[in-house]
Amino acid sequence: TLPRVYVTRRVPPEGLKILSESGQVQYELWDSDDPVPRQELLERVKEVDGLVCVLTEKIDAELLDAAGPSLKVLSTMSVGYDHLSLDELKKRGIRVGYTPDVLTDAVAELTVALLLTTSRRLIEATHEAKTGGWGTWRTMWLCGYELANSTVGILGLGRIGVAIAERLKPFKVKRFIYTDVAPRPELASMIQAEYVSMEELAKQSDFLAVCCALTPETQGICNKKLFTQMKDTAILINTSRGPVVNQEDLYEALSSGQIAGAGLDVTTPEPLPTDHPLFTLKNCVILPHIASASYSTRNAMSALAANNLLAGLRGEAMPKELKLKSSKKSMMMQGAR
Ligand code: GLV
Ligand code: GLV
Repeated sequence: TLPRVYVTRRVPPEGLKILSESGQVQYELWDSDDPVPRQELLERVKEVDGLVCVLTEKIDAELLDAAGPSLKVLSTMSVGYDHLSLDELKKRGIRVGYTPDVLTDAVAELTVALLLTTSRRLIEATHEAKTGGWGTWRTMWLCGYELANSTVGILGLGRIGVAIAERLKPFKVKRFIYTDVAPRPELASMIQAEYVSMEELAKQSDFLAVCCALTPETQGICNKKLFTQMKDTAILINTSRGPVVNQEDLYEALSSGQIAGAGLDVTTPEPLPTDHPLFTLKNCVILPHIASASYSTRNAMSALAANNLLAGLRGEAMPKELKLKSSKKSMMMQGAR
């Protein structure tokens, strides 16, 4: 009999087609746009050989115990892996596939769009135009900050940080700087970025793009201390994971004018409750985690997730396999995003 696979969400059609046409698995699908309820998930994963998940599913000891020893391969349709208990997966010898690279262009595009939307106050501006605030042309009205001659800082330099910098360069950015646990000369040379300390990154950046993976070490790394060091004209952009930013400290920094603005594609929690204080701030632009949301990229992610799963079940190298390192430190700011 064929290996059994559970797919925790109605993933885009390309991935399902690959699974169906492979003839190598029998899969069951949670055929909905909404997450599978936890209890249902714990039931469905019993004795499966493979699991395809998305980032809303917590893959922890409880879930892996519910699946049992038959589970050999986990394939997540995401580049982020903070929803996976890597230690538990490693302990059980379960191989893990993920979807880097295919989403880099889409995420970089969205990051630039969010940066410009925040720096040039586009949401405020359309609101003013629609609601009667546009009394006349005014010299200093809705002024923002421009990229020309600016310094752009990248927190966690990986493929996505490089792709963002490549797109920002034509806007006449003066200088790219970055920090990470260690210099990454190969990536940095692609964008002529200079390695600096966290403190210098905070002090010098006009735009600070958060591009690191969420790990215990990066959780809350954008906090009061960082905001205090930043320029009061600086703009923070986060397209990585919400918990990298301490939101209470961010609210304080934005409302007191410690920094000029923030554009967030990710929050804590998701969805962010509609009565959250951050929604009351004009200088905070919040998007509902859509950085990779283009038709082509989401299809490519589902195809890669399917191909990772099939290769893993055949015992072959996966197209994109997450290396489960034992050292905690090595997981720090890999710049996966
Ligand atoms: C999206 O946030 C992803 O991790 O792919
Ligand atoms: C702006 O529209 C200008 O003419 O300066």
